[in-house]
Amino acid sequence: MSGDHGAPRPDYAARRAALRNLLVENGVDALLVTDLVNIRYLTGFTGSNAALLVYSWDTAEDRTVICTDGRYITQVGEQVPDLRAEIARASARRIVELAGEWQTGRVGFESHVVTVEEHHAFVEQGTGLELVPAPHLVEQLRLVKDAYEVERLRAACAAADAALATLLERGGLRPGRTERQVARELEWLMFEHGAEAVAFETIVATGANSAVPHHRPTDAVLAAGDFVKLDFGAKIGGYHSDMTRTLVLGEPSDWQREVYELVYAAQKAGREALKPGVACADVDAAARSVIEAAGHGELFVHGLGHGVGLRIHEAPGLAKTGTGTLLGGVALTVEPGVYFPGRGGVRIEDTLVVRDGGPELLTLTSKELTVVD
Ligand code: GLY
Ligand code: MN
Ligand code: MN
Repeated sequence: MSGDHGAPRPDYAARRAALRNLLVENGVDALLVTDLVNIRYLTGFTGSNAALLVYSWDTAEDRTVICTDGRYITQVGEQVPDLRAEIARASARRIVELAGEWQTGRVGFESHVVTVEEHHAFVEQGTGLELVPAPHLVEQLRLVKDAYEVERLRAACAAADAALATLLERGGLRPGRTERQVARELEWLMFEHGAEAVAFETIVATGANSAVPHHRPTDAVLAAGDFVKLDFGAKIGGYHSDMTRTLVLGEPSDWQREVYELVYAAQKAGREALKPGVACADVDAAARSVIEAAGHGELFVHGLGHGVGLRIHEAPGLAKTGTGTLLGGVALTVEPGVYFPGRGGVRIEDTLVVRDGGPELLTLTSKELTVVD
């Protein structure tokens, strides 16, 4: 089991009650939830095999049932004491069988998650159910983070902040070390500062490698005059942090200062555009237009940011093609970059929460151009 850290338990029953409203709106009698992250969000269960059935009408939750396999008998009892638990290896098929026995009628399934093969298996069970696609319903609920979730995001961001501070204090970023050595030390330090896991593959990119947005650390050696791009995050209680800082080893050259200032200005514009009611595409445009005005639009080769929570990448997307508008309580990243192939690049990334009075910054490491002597 992972990651409760003594924090109070979220109100899972309230989350399922909110889901019930969506089920009514979508005209289904029940939802078969098979995405494990969604199951965690709705019940607290963190095992690697589960399926969940939530009824639209069952406010007493007599029929809400979670199914997992024998490895998790103890864990499901501890983590989900409030729901009926079934034990079966083929957890989703067992839930479909039960829904059939209970003559449920229209059962929504997470069509963005269920494979074609699994769907065939459900249909072949011949339970008399009407299985209807019901994608992204729990994800809608997950968009806005409650205080419990923000607290965990804050802790994950703090672990990453502390790890970088310790790395710099120790002189861990210096010419002669390799990208791999720095990456492993940064990861070790995140664990030392409370991480239960790394949030994603740590990126350490030095010199020309910093122009590769998702460079994987190699044995390339850090050298004086290099940009060093560090993109890393910690996971705490299932929640991810995501931060990028680009530093310079020694005195920056004029082009390095110029590109850094440009990305800094774009990132600031992106952060300042984060307000409830603003279109996601407009947030991207706020930052992108700064880079375009400097003539480098084609070097900003990715979207501005993404939602972050129980997954490192989740809704909403901040991109040219982004849809929808922001809501207060949405957690996301703002991470513009400008990359000169073969030469070097800069990305600056924060994790923030959208708030009425301006975004709440969770990654607190300075964004001033940091010169490592
Ligand atoms: N490191 C993954 C990202 O920034 O999206
Ligand atoms: Mn990142
Ligand atoms: Mn990111």
